[in-house]
Amino acid sequence: MEQSKIEALIQEMTLEEKLGQMTQLGAYYWGVDPSVDLTGPLNEMKVTAEDVKNVGSTLNYLGAKEVKALQDRAMAEHRLHIPMLFMADIIHGYKTSFPIPLALSCSFEPQNYENATSVAAAESAASGVQLTFAPMSDLVRDPRWGRVMESPGEDPYLNCVMTAAAVRGFSGDDIKKKGKVASCVKHFAGYGASQGGRDYNWVDISTNSFRQYYLASYKAALDAGARMVMTSFNVIDGIPSSANKMLFRKILREEWGFDGATISDYAAVEETITNGLAENGEDAARRCIEAGVDIEMMSTNYINYGKKLVEEGRLSMELIDQAVRNILNLKNDLGLFENPYKDASEEDEKTLHLCSEHRRLALEAAQQSIVLLKNENQTLPLKKGVKIGVAGPFASSDNTSGGWALINGKDESSLAAGFRKAGVEFVSAMDQSVVSMSEGSFDVEDEAESAMEAMQDCDVLIAAVGESPSDTGEAASRAYLRLSPNQEKLVMAMKATGKPVIMVVFSGRPLEIKPVLPYCDAVIQAWFLGTESGNALTSVLFGGYNPSGRLAMSFPQTVGQIPVHYNCYRTGRPYYGQEDHYVSKYLDCPNEPLFPFGFGLSYSKAVYSDLQAEARDGVIRARVTVTNESRIPMKETVQLYIHDLFASVVRPVKELKGFLQIALAAGESRTVEFEVTKEMLKFYNDQMEYVFEPGEFEVMVGPNSRDVEIRKVTL
Ligand code: NOJ
Repeated sequence: MEQSKIEALIQEMTLEEKLGQMTQLGAYYWGVDPSVDLTGPLNEMKVTAEDVKNVGSTLNYLGAKEVKALQDRAMAEHRLHIPMLFMADIIHGYKTSFPIPLALSCSFEPQNYENATSVAAAESAASGVQLTFAPMSDLVRDPRWGRVMESPGEDPYLNCVMTAAAVRGFSGDDIKKKGKVASCVKHFAGYGASQGGRDYNWVDISTNSFRQYYLASYKAALDAGARMVMTSFNVIDGIPSSANKMLFRKILREEWGFDGATISDYAAVEETITNGLAENGEDAARRCIEAGVDIEMMSTNYINYGKKLVEEGRLSMELIDQAVRNILNLKNDLGLFENPYKDASEEDEKTLHLCSEHRRLALEAAQQSIVLLKNENQTLPLKKGVKIGVAGPFASSDNTSGGWALINGKDESSLAAGFRKAGVEFVSAMDQSVVSMSEGSFDVEDEAESAMEAMQDCDVLIAAVGESPSDTGEAASRAYLRLSPNQEKLVMAMKATGKPVIMVVFSGRPLEIKPVLPYCDAVIQAWFLGTESGNALTSVLFGGYNPSGRLAMSFPQTVGQIPVHYNCYRTGRPYYGQEDHYVSKYLDCPNEPLFPFGFGLSYSKAVYSDLQAEARDGVIRARVTVTNESRIPMKETVQLYIHDLFASVVRPVKELKGFLQIALAAGESRTVEFEVTKEMLKFYNDQMEYVFEPGEFEVMVGPNSRDVEIRKVTL
């Protein structure tokens, strides 16, 4: 439909109809599915049947048949027959579940994230989804925050690369195309810096850090084609994000020129009252609309008070019209005026959901997301025919998809299932599922003794341990990050048998695994890998896939170290292991994390040599030769970091500026080249200008953020 028709439609709409477009409600308001749960302070929604007819979008309503029926009903009841927009949280898969985003990021291969979101788009679009509330690109440095599982991790550069890949997969080059969905990046802004890692908590962040590190990935999403931006639950600079003009009017619209639509997070408009900013619903509606939030999700202040505010001259009709224009443009770009069901098709649901091609891509992504953290005495890969004992809550659990997954528990995705499929014989013991903390005790029964008896004839023992998937994601913050006591006890009991112990950790965040590390000969970080979890882990354990994943988030030694991330600043009293008392260190813990950002082992040996770096024609160029000194083909992720030695504001000791994953045959050498431009070296100076400053730089190249070789250049 041409723009002039959108304008004509806006002219024709009543104020109530406009405010309806600016409101999103759960589908149960139409009386279709009364089982949808409400969360948040939603007791007094005061929605009338007339309001519901005007509502412009709904969330998490799924299924081709159901969506078509609801769309038919909504359009028939709307005076101008404007189609509804169906939005949903499709994060890392729909029926075919891919690894959680943090794990996908650990693959250091953006194509995996793009495949995941492209499959998620195709499968969910067939079930009626037109827009996804993803990707979540919040930069995260605190593993206590349950939502780190949804983020690409602690590094701004990796975040941007992964976020852009995710948007490309969801939306392609045209959201109207079959199998594509519009993407809503979230949570704008800085939600990952929630104080103390507690969800929904406030954020206190310096302007410099906010601009330099936290904003970049949202911008990357928009540049890649994200069409919507969601607010965050946090307060920033004293203003809740949903009422924050600096964020939505100044940065998003004015500075970045974003002309798409914006939406509040769930009930976040209402929560500006609880925050202590808005005095009542009327005030909340005015503040959030003025801040530039087009759609109010799951609270009803816009429809309840918008009319009064406009009629009394306290809210401009122009602002309302602009919000409605943004929303209708999005519907138009999705082609909903011509095809209100978009791709909803029961036929396609049958052919696409969990089809073999989607599962193949999910398997590849899962294999590449696994991170090998320890492998003493070549415990791994396992030899064929070895007698395996596997115990722990994730030995037989099909609950391998983590948060925001629809397939949970409905598929054969456990480690045991992977073994069975590969024809691996094993003994399993003590494999009761882990209970989630919100359900009460989070520990498992202590059956270590009987488990050791059951596995006494085994040659090697696997501890499949971790946290419940329900203890990750939204509202799942943790103050303690250790494995539950009986899981730690299981690992220790295994070690006491004298047999090699392999610990496989299922978690949505870096856990504090230091206490059990000495009891493990090998450690695999499995995250939550989705539908192909069992198959992927089996292939890694037996060497069918040579592990290549690298940590996208540092693993702390202990909770007291958090936040611990590689891209920190040098203090005036740095600690280099010297005796001096008055230096920046802990008395009881190293400064370094247990495992650093970018770290991950393989079954091969990559040797780095001939690192050269030079600065010429305004560009830093580095080259290094990497040799696979083993008999096993491998994938190596070569990483380049920069340190701007002296600048008008202090710069981090290391910043990732490039990485490249290369395949190396046994014995093969390859030379890898990187280019770092002045643009990539820009930062916000003390005047908050985004500038490049000439000077000396350290160029660091290596297999992770810790083990690098350094060259100095002047640019
Ligand atoms: C709240 C979450 O913070 C957000 O990420 C999600 O998209 C909405 N709920 C809708 O489910």
